[in-house]
Amino acid sequence: MSATQNVRAMTPPKVAERKGGVPLVCLTAYTTPVARLVDPHCDVVLVGDSVGMVLHGLPSTLGVTLEMMIMHGQAVRRGLEQSLMIIDMPFGSYEESPEQAFRNAARVMAETGCAAVKLEGGETIAETIRFLAARGVPVMGHVGLTPQAVNTFGGYRVQGRGSDAERIVSDALAVSEAGAFAVVLEKVPEALARRITGEVAIPTIGIGASAACDGQILVVDDMLGLFGDFRPKFVKRYTELGEAAAAAVAVYAREVKERRFPAAEHVFADAPKPADADASNSGQAA
Ligand code: KIV
Repeated sequence: MSATQNVRAMTPPKVAERKGGVPLVCLTAYTTPVARLVDPHCDVVLVGDSVGMVLHGLPSTLGVTLEMMIMHGQAVRRGLEQSLMIIDMPFGSYEESPEQAFRNAARVMAETGCAAVKLEGGETIAETIRFLAARGVPVMGHVGLTPQAVNTFGGYRVQGRGSDAERIVSDALAVSEAGAFAVVLEKVPEALARRITGEVAIPTIGIGASAACDGQILVVDDMLGLFGDFRPKFVKRYTELGEAAAAAVAVYAREVKERRFPAAEHVFADAPKPADADASNSGQAA
């Protein structure tokens, strides 16, 4: 441990130890300012491949590249002091073979400083999880609705209803037994989430999977009301920042047109005034 390491910092083993304890608080972040905002409150900050839809306007997560994940990972790293940063491996960067997954995960870890990666998939990806975990790459699993398989599922439907439940249980057990330190359960019925949480040895992190899980995750833009009119049942909008921002932009536009902005306090005098914050030339635009 280096002399400067933050002792409060979360690690994959500390996350695993929270099984059955105080629920784990997890959110996504894609930028430095948002990472700074969520870090004091979170155990885990996920640089999710949802970044493609949320920040880049892509129709699904399938177009997200390794380079995008690395760039956003580096930005988030600069904003974190204590949360565990996990980075999503994007579609096409890990499914081919355990070796491909290791090569790309090692690059993501080296270039971003993240301590773990997340892979979507259950039984089919278990061998890869085992390969990574044995080689110094902590893995968070992701089962249930796995958005990278949207074309296979034919949409973003709830998974594991009725007899389909056994498939999700097998996936979660496979991921856990392969050595993942936690697993995201996305969009599954409450009873199934409770059963899986009781059966797997690692913490379950729910998104649309009820409070029966060992922790919760949301896309930060969804819970802040920033991602348009996207209102799935499982998202609670804790505020409406999108509406507040739109109202502010409308006021700005009106004030510019009416020459009410900039006002006297935003304008530079010919000679600097002593009280002028920009007189010292410290202001970015002085
Ligand atoms: O990409 C993402 O943001 C995610 C979650 C919200 C679990 O995978």
